[in-house]
Amino acid sequence: MQTHVLPVDAERPELKVISKAAGILRRGGLVAFPTETVYGLGANALDEAAVQRIFAAKGRPATNPVIVHVADIASARDLVAEWPEQAERLAERFWPGPLTLVLPKIDLVPNMVTAGASTVALRVPAHPVALALLQAAQFPIAAPSANCSTALSPTRAEHVLYGLDGLIDLVLDAGPVPGGLESTVIDLTVKPPRILRPGLVTPAELEAAIGTVLRPRAHAWADSSEPKKSPGMLERHYAPRTPLEGVAGNSVERVRELSTQGLRVGWIAFSDVAKQGATATVVRILPADPGACAKELYAVLHELDAAGLDRIVVALPPATEEWLAVRDRLRRAATCFADGNGFED
Ligand code: TXA
Ligand code: MG
Repeated sequence: MQTHVLPVDAERPELKVISKAAGILRRGGLVAFPTETVYGLGANALDEAAVQRIFAAKGRPATNPVIVHVADIASARDLVAEWPEQAERLAERFWPGPLTLVLPKIDLVPNMVTAGASTVALRVPAHPVALALLQAAQFPIAAPSANCSTALSPTRAEHVLYGLDGLIDLVLDAGPVPGGLESTVIDLTVKPPRILRPGLVTPAELEAAIGTVLRPRAHAWADSSEPKKSPGMLERHYAPRTPLEGVAGNSVERVRELSTQGLRVGWIAFSDVAKQGATATVVRILPADPGACAKELYAVLHELDAAGLDRIVVALPPATEEWLAVRDRLRRAATCFADGNGFED
């Protein structure tokens, strides 16, 4: 299959381009499109065969459910058996935006979408291209991140092509996305609600809207149902091919140690000060603000992964709640995550 790439205006998407993409989706095809978080790989959520194609293209295990994108609150309500008060408050406050609500589904939603679960994950994305596509399609769009299963999520159209060129029909290229990290996923079928995946909407923001929410279970990775490969091995997801180490404290020393062994090391730090005494082959400095860092994180990881390095060392940001999502993604990207008190599992 040839994958077409169509440029599209990120602010005012051209009707012609959007109609073409909606037509492909209507006929059961796959279209990668920008959302405000990452690029998604879309299919008609109500067409089981089309959704099956998403799983095949990504190599995604059938046990991992996908998010369903809808145009507005009314379309979300059409797909669920219950719409609790908390859903209304969160949707009013955060949609369109990077928050995904898990709610009891109705039969119309195919089991393939939810991996057999009785719940469905829903969100209204804030990107003009995603919204225009949903409006043109007139059906909900199932869309996981547009990367091969377990690989880094795409924040640009080029990243989508790294893994999926030749496997999907179309990529809508609107340039880099504004958010950079996947949405926060919250389960509203339990009391109190539980965050399944931290993201751009923080626990504090959720609690300001609906009261107590439970934090993600430590080490219970919502994205994977595969058994751990061996004790002490981290579940790799959102991962570059190059082995990545997260280091708290003195990452300078770790970089020096690896460089001395003759390894080509990429170093990601959060302050220019870290450059002092750097022996790394490539150094990238990320902003010391969680939101600004999220926006650049995957692009930097993609870049270093393509640089022919032996190792990527990341100086970990502080273990505070505002860094929860960034640390979560780094933990999943890492082959080794040394957080001060030895290695975390
Ligand atoms: O920002 C995002 O959320 C992006 C863009 C494209 O919207 N999408 C995304 O989708 O990251 P994906 O499939 O890569 O991640 C979906 C997450 C996974 O952690 C999955 O396990 C969880 O949502 N999920 C989906 N449906 C669920 C359900 N019914 N119950 C619990 N978790 C669910
Ligand atoms: Mg993903």
